[in-house]
Amino acid sequence: MRGRFITLEGGEGAGKSTQVRRLALTLAARGREVVTTREPGGSDGAEAIRDLLVSGATDRWDCVTEALLHSAARRDHLARTVWPALDRGAWVVCDRFADSTIAYQGYGHGLPVADLETLTRLTVGDFTPDLTLILDLPAEDGLTRAGGRGGGEDRYERMGLDFHRRLRQGFLDIAQRHPQRCAVIDATQSVDAVAQAIDAAVIGRLAP
Ligand code: TMP
Repeated sequence: MRGRFITLEGGEGAGKSTQVRRLALTLAARGREVVTTREPGGSDGAEAIRDLLVSGATDRWDCVTEALLHSAARRDHLARTVWPALDRGAWVVCDRFADSTIAYQGYGHGLPVADLETLTRLTVGDFTPDLTLILDLPAEDGLTRAGGRGGGEDRYERMGLDFHRRLRQGFLDIAQRHPQRCAVIDATQSVDAVAQAIDAAVIGRLAP
């Protein structure tokens, strides 16, 4: 039986990677094989592309090139990691996916959303997440939290407050357009409260 594909989305500093780990524990406790992964990244090729995207000058790529790089990474990640895991019945929990391209390259950089949807269809076909959890918080709060993270992967964090406000709106618009697939989670709450809200959404919608 095919597994399930759950994605976590949101702006910088929303706590996605912590919540990916927490959700993996919940699913494992219910007897599921769980694979945790991330975008950009999650396969050797996609991790190499990630290095090109997350460090260096903010204008290192023009926005179309950037969308193509994210898409190339996504295709490799799906082919090498995600689809094989789903085929053997695993539940895959992924930190970011195609909604990030709509939010960051569309709402953030201003590329037409319809063009990005076409690019996504070319990249992934009709594959979509079974559930998308959108961790929502004000851009200022997220950037403050993310600022303490270090590690040099801060190219997007340096893109300015207006950019981050636009992409927050992008994620909320996506949630409104796809209510069956998306659940918005208030990420201003404590880590435990966010984890509980995520568990409730996953258990309520997918009954693992
Ligand atoms: P991360 O910091 O959440 O691991 O993600 C790396 C950065 O990549 C993050 O700032 C958002 C950005 N990103 C895009 O701009 N477009 C995309 O399609 C994806 C997956 C990530």
